[in-house]
Amino acid sequence: MKIYINYQGINKFPEKIERQLKKDLQNAFKLLNIKKKILSLTFVSNEEILKLNQRYLFRPYPTNVLAFPVEEGQNMLFLGDVVISVEKAEEEACLYGLNFYSYLLSLCFHGLLHLLGHDHEKGVYSPWLMLRNEINLMEKIYPDPEVLKFLRRREYMPAKLAVNVDHVATVREARKTYYPDPVHAAVLAELGGADGIVVHLRLDRRHIKERDVRLIREIIKTKLILEMAIDKDLIKFAKEVKPYQVTLVPERPEEITTEGGIELEDRVEEVKKVVKELNKSGIKVSLFINPDEKALELAKKTGAQIVELHTGMYADAEEEEKRLSELTRLENAARFAKDLGFIVHAGHGLNYENIGPVAAIPEIEEFSIGHSIVSRAIFVGLKEAVREMKELILRARS
Ligand code: PXP
Repeated sequence: MKIYINYQGINKFPEKIERQLKKDLQNAFKLLNIKKKILSLTFVSNEEILKLNQRYLFRPYPTNVLAFPVEEGQNMLFLGDVVISVEKAEEEACLYGLNFYSYLLSLCFHGLLHLLGHDHEKGVYSPWLMLRNEINLMEKIYPDPEVLKFLRRREYMPAKLAVNVDHVATVREARKTYYPDPVHAAVLAELGGADGIVVHLRLDRRHIKERDVRLIREIIKTKLILEMAIDKDLIKFAKEVKPYQVTLVPERPEEITTEGGIELEDRVEEVKKVVKELNKSGIKVSLFINPDEKALELAKKTGAQIVELHTGMYADAEEEEKRLSELTRLENAARFAKDLGFIVHAGHGLNYENIGPVAAIPEIEEFSIGHSIVSRAIFVGLKEAVREMKELILRARS
């Protein structure tokens, strides 16, 4: 592999840095299984990159990295040019509090992946795939924890949708009949694209019953998520049915629906025991909590794998200012939770109007939505109602 380093409008890097860059890039070629190719790497000023960005991408501002793959018919040994603005890289490294060399290297990898055909501006999965490759190269070649943390924050796929079918059972229980059956609803939700089915087995069994949980567990092809309060009999039942995941929620007998996140103050040890017991039966545990750093830190002590951030305050906000501040609170909590190592989910009160901004939060991997989907299903059918919600979630990140 040959690497040519050029400079335009800026001072050359010291020899030591050039040598390190070439060594790290050679390692990247090995990992990517690229042989006998030529790469040109050009370091420029903001002024130079602005000219290129304007001329080739019609973007009137300086950027950090541009990649110009070799065009078909040209020398196929030549991979192409990666152009990096050193000024921009310095500005950004300083802004994000990152080591300059590590960040510069991550930009070189970014450019190289573009030359190999990756494109983070196309489609739903390609941004994720490209970033996964960037992270992989940094992990193996230059594992600076701060840059890795920075890159992982941008790592995302479209979020998944877990559909809560409780309210199909609510309609059934309104007349104490045997229909509509939440088991049928689970199948239709899956046909509409649901990635999981959620049921809340409440202490008063006001909608979902044990029979529903057992049959849904047996029949669905995706995953069953059992929501429940911390209760001895419910834990026993969960261990018997073995859903994919249990979401622990607080429950107040008179409430219409779950009102807030689980209060962990003074309960960490108790919850920790429950998490351990369910994990031992192969069940993942999620805690439904308010989007606060304090609550997340306590949740971490319980050993739970997942947190579901309560989106109710965002959904209920009537004024724009409040809605935006609740959205920011969710964004910060999602980032904080991901940095703590949690898988991040969110839910409660989400509907077709308010899902967009939260679905764009990259750290959230799954949404749990029930009432709005079942309500819409009355008019358009459940399969279609799920499909429409799924599309809004997908669109938020494409
Ligand atoms: N997540 C949790 C923990 C819940 O308790 C509920 C309500 O059952 C939901 C999500 C779904 O909320 P909604 O029905 O408002 O979509």
